[in-house]
Amino acid sequence: MRLLVFAGSTRQGSYNRRLAAATAALARTSGAEVTHLELGELDIPMYNADLEARGTPADVIRLKQLCFDHPAWIICAPEYNASYPALLKNTLDWVSSPVKADPAWTDGFRSSRGKVVGMLSASPGALGGLRSQGHLAPLLLNLQCWVAPKNFALGRAADAFDADGQLVADAARQNVQAVIDQVLWAASRFQQP
Ligand code: FNR
Repeated sequence: MRLLVFAGSTRQGSYNRRLAAATAALARTSGAEVTHLELGELDIPMYNADLEARGTPADVIRLKQLCFDHPAWIICAPEYNASYPALLKNTLDWVSSPVKADPAWTDGFRSSRGKVVGMLSASPGALGGLRSQGHLAPLLLNLQCWVAPKNFALGRAADAFDADGQLVADAARQNVQAVIDQVLWAASRFQQP
């Protein structure tokens, strides 16, 4: 099963980027074919329809293709003001925006429809960014994704990783593994025609 993992942060010391890396490593040991995407490596501007009318950026097409190629995704979402950050909204808005000039992408939901998506979050606070997921889920449903009911929020994230980026607590690892397992299980059943 092909699994796309990405975090909604480009910050160097990001807990969500670390969580995405730890998730990718765990998923590989579960036999998934994992792509760990760093959003900071893509050149994706803030969405603007005027800009889009002049031509969809090449990295947006790359992003659409990546999303399309992976039946399963796991998103590690930071929490900003009890929701998810603009980076994730902007990224997913571009993913769903039809490319009128390209017959492959005139269907805006082609790259997201039917994908099984697991949500994780990490925050230095006690709630682990859980409230970001409450806003992210409806956005993913609008993109016609299947949102996995199992999720996990990593609280006190500043103390959650060792020097190698591994999750310190067994319970945290088990919770992440449970999300991975459910996403892979569901994605193997919810393949789109
Ligand atoms: C935050 N942060 C935050 N944390 C939280 O648990 N609940 C919240 O509502 C907020 N709100 C918030 C708003 C803004 C504008 C910023 C910049 C930050 C703190 C946030 O969780 C923290 O900066 C994380 O470290 C961000 O995630 P990364 O970059 O570490 O992945």
